[in-house]
Amino acid sequence: MYKIIDGKKIAVEMRQNIKNCVNEYKRRYAAEIGLAVVMVGDNQASQVYVRNKIKACEEVGIKSFAYYLPEETPQKELEELICELAANDSINGILVQLPLPKHFDSEKILKLIPVEKDVDGFSAENLGMLSQNNECLTSCTPNGIMKMLEHENISVCGKKAVVIGRSNIVGKPMAMLLLNADATVTVCHSKTANLKAECLEADILIAAIGKAKFIKSDMVKDEAVVIDVGMNRDENGKLCGDVDYEAVKEKCSYITPVPGGVGPMTITMLLYNTYTAAVRSRN
Ligand code: GUN
Repeated sequence: MYKIIDGKKIAVEMRQNIKNCVNEYKRRYAAEIGLAVVMVGDNQASQVYVRNKIKACEEVGIKSFAYYLPEETPQKELEELICELAANDSINGILVQLPLPKHFDSEKILKLIPVEKDVDGFSAENLGMLSQNNECLTSCTPNGIMKMLEHENISVCGKKAVVIGRSNIVGKPMAMLLLNADATVTVCHSKTANLKAECLEADILIAAIGKAKFIKSDMVKDEAVVIDVGMNRDENGKLCGDVDYEAVKEKCSYITPVPGGVGPMTITMLLYNTYTAAVRSRN
């Protein structure tokens, strides 16, 4: 019998804790915690994500500063905005919603975000610190997944974890977090020779592929923990993950749904990182 990991419920609990911490911070320092959210262009999915991030800030008492820039904004103008935000003491975190329109040099933009305000945890410095198991701002989705596993008392130590996807945002930091928690980690990707065989080895399977219902039941070991990072539309336009949920769930000990699994945790960890950045700025 499988258990559904209710990311929405865990996120609500965590947000209440963060709200209490934010209130305590404000009382102690007589100051706000500020998050700048920068979005360029009118990508529909990004608009939804940004709206949800701003709403979540309000919920826990973090002050958000939203910047909606037109698609044709020149690189230089965006660079100047990031530099201003970097120098502004009222801003504890800076988030540039990705993807940026094609004409931008995204790497150059992201490099302008100071490490201590990099609440997405995307910078080479933060990723490097994570790989050395040192204190850092950790990418939100993988960090949220670790919190979900902890919440369910799912032990990672000594388990075989398979991460499908090698992005700097999810796959790589996910693998490092699992490794830091003493799992034996395999990272798979589009060039992996026998993906099915690798998946069948997994006690913990993390799917961050970006293909609707890609993981079928014959790719999942009995009693596996299956974490679905995907956010896709199926053939009927319905939101679905990278895992064929209905077919796979019966084989699992735990599984995350889409929606209501990893998604709400990602935004929660952004709030957590912003609070953490503010606290560190005082130390
Ligand atoms: N685009 C998709 N996911 C993310 C995210 O977590 N952070 C940012 N900045 N952009 C994204």
